[in-house]
Amino acid sequence: MRKISNAARFLFLRLQKHWKYTAKHSQRVAEIAQMFGRSKEEKNLFYLCGLFHDIGKLKIPTGLLQKKEQLNKNEIEMLKLHTLYGRDILYKQGFNNKVINSAYQHHERCNGNGYPDQITEIPYIVRVIAVADIYTALTEDRPYRPALSQQEASKILLNYAQNGEIDMEITKHLLGYQHDILISIKP
Ligand SMILES: [Fe+2]
Repeated sequence: MRKISNAARFLFLRLQKHWKYTAKHSQRVAEIAQMFGRSKEEKNLFYLCGLFHDIGKLKIPTGLLQKKEQLNKNEIEMLKLHTLYGRDILYKQGFNNKVINSAYQHHERCNGNGYPDQITEIPYIVRVIAVADIYTALTEDRPYRPALSQQEASKILLNYAQNGEIDMEITKHLLGYQHDILISIKP
């Protein structure tokens, strides 16, 4: 893990206690996101954006986070609120705007099919987090399915990019980094 402030460490510990799978997932997203930074400062910032993109899940009951069955409409709406909760938590704690924004917008999609605001002009770091988030989720065990192979995950990711959901350039970069990711991230 990169060096982070005490406030950031404390917040991350809260996430680990609440739902360790989201914490583990966030750490993997952070490891990928920092590779897109062009300077040491940017790498640190992108790392934080990854680490806290799902921090709003602190306010989502673990019963919902671990549910194996398909979620109903209400439950899906409840889960979506983690983007708003994340923004509020990070704002209150005085985090950088890019970190706040990544939590709020990481489920937005380039073609406007995302949430919460269905925007299409998405900042670069948020697009990085979105690609890293999806790729990481696909290659992890989930309560409702086992992890996909790297090959399967790459195919799906490229498909999303071709459909205009996520940024193609970032997707290509990430798949290019795949070799480094494999080495740097323990399963
Ligand atoms: Fe999320």
